[in-house]
Amino acid sequence: MNIVLIGFMGSGKSAVAKILSQILHFDLLEMDEIVLQKTHTHTMRELFDKGGELLLRETEIIIAREYAHKKHLVISTGGGVVLNKIVLDYFKTGNGKVFFLNPPFEHIIERVKNDHLSSRPLWKDLKVAKELYDFRLPLYHSYADVVMNIDSESAESIAAQIIHKVH
Ligand code: S3P
Repeated sequence: MNIVLIGFMGSGKSAVAKILSQILHFDLLEMDEIVLQKTHTHTMRELFDKGGELLLRETEIIIAREYAHKKHLVISTGGGVVLNKIVLDYFKTGNGKVFFLNPPFEHIIERVKNDHLSSRPLWKDLKVAKELYDFRLPLYHSYADVVMNIDSESAESIAAQIIHKVH
């Protein structure tokens, strides 16, 4: 079985995935990192300059196809994987269980505002980010096997809840 974390930028996927992989001794697949490796770029900004959002989305599909049937992975996805249904289809046919990390939008803003724009070129400003969020929210819900409504729990506590649900 693989554990797949989906959710908007700044929803805590990477931190939770890292803890899960350590506790479960599963390999960690950080999709954004593999995307950069495969496209020979160093930041999302550089990738967008090179091939636009299309290059990101195509590479996400290639990675999903490549990794879906591996075993014992924790997969931290990029926030936009829900835009191509095939990505989650690949992960699910490969026996992935999909957890949607769903903190309030206000928490997301707090997390993302300190990050450098180079890692999240689609977060242009608050208005655009909120529009993206509103558009994607139903998609995250529709692909999730489990919705994790998060308030102010730590990443450790969310990981523990996920492990409990998996067992
Ligand atoms: C994106 C989210 C980012 C990264 C890219 C696009 C998105 O990943 O894949 O900047 O479309 O929401 P995180 O969700 O890890 O920030």
